[in-house]
Amino acid sequence: MIRFTVNNQPVEYRLDPATPLLWALRDASNLTGAKYGCGTGHCGACIVDVDGTARAACQVPVGTIEGSYVTTIEGLSRERNHPLQLAFLAEGVPQCGFCIGGMIMQASVLLRKNSNPTEAQVRESITVICRCGVYPRVVEAIQRAGRALRGEEVIPAGFRPGIDPADAARQVPALTRGSGNR
Ligand code: FES
Ligand code: FES
Repeated sequence: MIRFTVNNQPVEYRLDPATPLLWALRDASNLTGAKYGCGTGHCGACIVDVDGTARAACQVPVGTIEGSYVTTIEGLSRERNHPLQLAFLAEGVPQCGFCIGGMIMQASVLLRKNSNPTEAQVRESITVICRCGVYPRVVEAIQRAGRALRGEEVIPAGFRPGIDPADAARQVPALTRGSGNR
């Protein structure tokens, strides 16, 4: 039996100690926010917080983290309103979304250590590979979340990226007049 804490819940796993943490989370705990991308520790889609460090869950045997505290994207904020989550939505970061959980978890570790990172520090710290190429917006979102954590900005909750149906309907006449490229 291997025991550690996941999202503030003590959990006992009856698993081979060599089992990657990613499978304990996804298959045994039904926490599927950490994604399986490469399985070799390179893409970062599986990153979770283990004792305050961003770790690729596919590379962490459960037997090595007995007694640890693991936080996944599901446990980052009970109300899903961590400043990083709000900022990623407000900046319209996600495309397919596959890398976003790992990216936010990696960013949360960064901001805990440094809530005012420069663009260079963000780029150096965020190693998650995004096949959709959202990197420029990621920098904006992480710095914005930092401002919120420092109390310099309030990011509106509940913001939805994209065009809502009412706005889309309002744009139709403009488009039919041939002036839709504003
Ligand atoms: S799946 Fe773990 S780093 Fe890619
Ligand atoms: S948003 Fe698609 S992989 Fe990053």
